[in-house]
Amino acid sequence: MIVNKCHRALNARTSLRQLLNGVTTTWNRCLTGSVSREPEGPVIMTEIPGPRSRSLIQELNAIQQASSVQFFADYEKSSGNYIMDVDGNALLDVYMQISSMPLGYNHPAMLEALADPVNQKIIANRPALGVFPGKDWPNRLRNILLNKEVAPSGLSHITTMMCGSCSNENAFKSIFIWYAEKQRQGKPFTKDEMESCMINQIPGSPRYSIMSFTGGFHGRTIACLSTTHSKYIHKIDVPAFDWPIASFPEYKYPLEENVRENQTEDKRCLAEVEELFEKYKKEKKVPVAGVIIEPIQSEGGDNHASPEFFQELQRITRKHGAALLIDEVQTGCGPTGKMWCHEHFNLDTPPDVVTFSKKMQLGGYYHWEDFKPKQSYRVFNTWMGDPSKLILLEAILKVIKKDNLLDRVVRVGDYMLKNLIDIQKDHSSVINAVRGRGTLIAFNCLSPEMRDTIMKKLAAKGIQVGGCGNQAVRLRPALTFAEHHADIFLDALRTVLNE
Ligand SMILES: Cc1ncc(COP(=O)(O)O)c(C=O)c1O
Repeated sequence: MIVNKCHRALNARTSLRQLLNGVTTTWNRCLTGSVSREPEGPVIMTEIPGPRSRSLIQELNAIQQASSVQFFADYEKSSGNYIMDVDGNALLDVYMQISSMPLGYNHPAMLEALADPVNQKIIANRPALGVFPGKDWPNRLRNILLNKEVAPSGLSHITTMMCGSCSNENAFKSIFIWYAEKQRQGKPFTKDEMESCMINQIPGSPRYSIMSFTGGFHGRTIACLSTTHSKYIHKIDVPAFDWPIASFPEYKYPLEENVRENQTEDKRCLAEVEELFEKYKKEKKVPVAGVIIEPIQSEGGDNHASPEFFQELQRITRKHGAALLIDEVQTGCGPTGKMWCHEHFNLDTPPDVVTFSKKMQLGGYYHWEDFKPKQSYRVFNTWMGDPSKLILLEAILKVIKKDNLLDRVVRVGDYMLKNLIDIQKDHSSVINAVRGRGTLIAFNCLSPEMRDTIMKKLAAKGIQVGGCGNQAVRLRPALTFAEHHADIFLDALRTVLNE
């Protein structure tokens, strides 16, 4: 309806301002009542960013670095799978705030949860959870985060945090503390340890390391940044630990035509892992306490590795007495069709630590009991999570279950992949390596410039996607993304590629 109205108006060469007002009014009518309705399709009124966004970008840039801003959104009017910008454009959002909106915008279940007077008191009184948690906190952790349909199976403990980086950063600390405890074999801290740690020296500040992988992204705080290797701009000028970095497999696509080569690639990377364990222990004297890996490398280019690779990595890690940390910040909470992506890998035992954030609304990590420090205040900060975000997560999880959204992700993901593979066949000189699990899908473009052009042209047609790695386009839709949304995206992509 809105689209037709726009087209009619455009045909009549109505002035842009009139058009904007008209659409906004129609839109507002859609939004009145408790549930905001999605438009029938993208609505494009201006270039993106439009004049209002550009002026706001200037305003923001005057007070902070704002050159990453793509446009300013109108979150009051955004709805479901559509993000509305301040210039009246409505874009089908296939990127969803860098993969962090599981139900899209203004989902009624989330708005209802926030309107509940009981929840209002939780929102108003943000506690220092490590010292003054609310009376229902243990119960809520058990019922929501440790619920057996939510927690990675086998992991009985949870530490909540705020963002992805602070979850990984504190998970590293838990791993170092666990590793040191094993060396100490139950003995108390020595005087030397207590004094030397105060001046960053051994033995109190031991030289342990976390192994990571080329192309990995684990956040931007100092220790996380030493395990992040996706782009130099994230790292340059910031001191880093000399910690081991193993190669992440680089597969040839299509997978079914390159089975042998990709198995050889797995073996090459795993052999490096083995070598680095030895080298850092014997030569460098910086033993590896833990290994961090994404189940699908996201920022680094949507790089996949086989279940066998992960199974063997876990065995090697365990053999060397280190912990395996699977970073599910981007892959957790359903986008691959399972709650956690590593559940596709059929590991011998659960990973030691699983970090999360993004779609889970708050950050944190699941872990075995061994990773709970014996003393208080060792893994601690003022907030240690946010009960108000757990309200949202609770509402989200109910919708995921009630609407069978994980099944939908599998169905829609298959549909998208099948169609994208067809598109790739027709345009193999421009896009290749279509890959994905569930709706966590990506494809490569011929060059970084080609990728940027495709993204720009998609935006001009009202489709918001993300980039990753050097030349990949990544899709991170909400779990509510359906076939009809997929069709809109696929049609736009076909048109752009034909152009
Ligand atoms: C896999 C992964 N780990 C960690 C992070 C860092 O999360 P945050 O940006 O919330 O600090 C990200 C962010 O994109 C991520 O994708």
